[in-house]
Amino acid sequence: MNGEAHDRDVEPRLLLSDFIRDDLGLTGTNVGCEHGVCGTCTVLLDGAPVRSCTTLAVQVDGRRITTVEGLSHGEEMHGLQRAFTARHGLQCGFCTPGFLMTLLPAYNEAKPLDKDEIRELISGNLCRCTGYQQIVEAMQLALEEASELANLPTQDG
Ligand code: FES
Ligand code: FES
Repeated sequence: MNGEAHDRDVEPRLLLSDFIRDDLGLTGTNVGCEHGVCGTCTVLLDGAPVRSCTTLAVQVDGRRITTVEGLSHGEEMHGLQRAFTARHGLQCGFCTPGFLMTLLPAYNEAKPLDKDEIRELISGNLCRCTGYQQIVEAMQLALEEASELANLPTQDG
């Protein structure tokens, strides 16, 4: 979990979302609908977004999970978080961890996406506040910054 190993015995029926929040105390992952519709509980499983409310904790035995807590480095926000802040990509913030984790693989690829491609990416995430436009703009800003960083010359030239 976010680079740290956790060794626990759990009930076979325990949901990954409950394991993350209740057993590990990582409450950044929010739970909304609890049946796979809203995307709020999204985390990365071996780098790919999954709904933690429809995944069992036992299914991730030995696997790599990233939650929203794994994004920042101490006080330093991740590029996606900075872009959401700069473009007002959130209001109440309840859905935000799910959007960030859904968008993270595309950010890591640093591949430019147009607005329709970003809308397609977030089509499984619901937000009741923003109207989505600022979220799309935030992702565009984040991708611009990510591709600039990816193209920076290295020390070796
Ligand atoms: Fe998991 Fe809504 S809480 S998809
Ligand atoms: Fe409130 Fe998305 S910011 S639900």
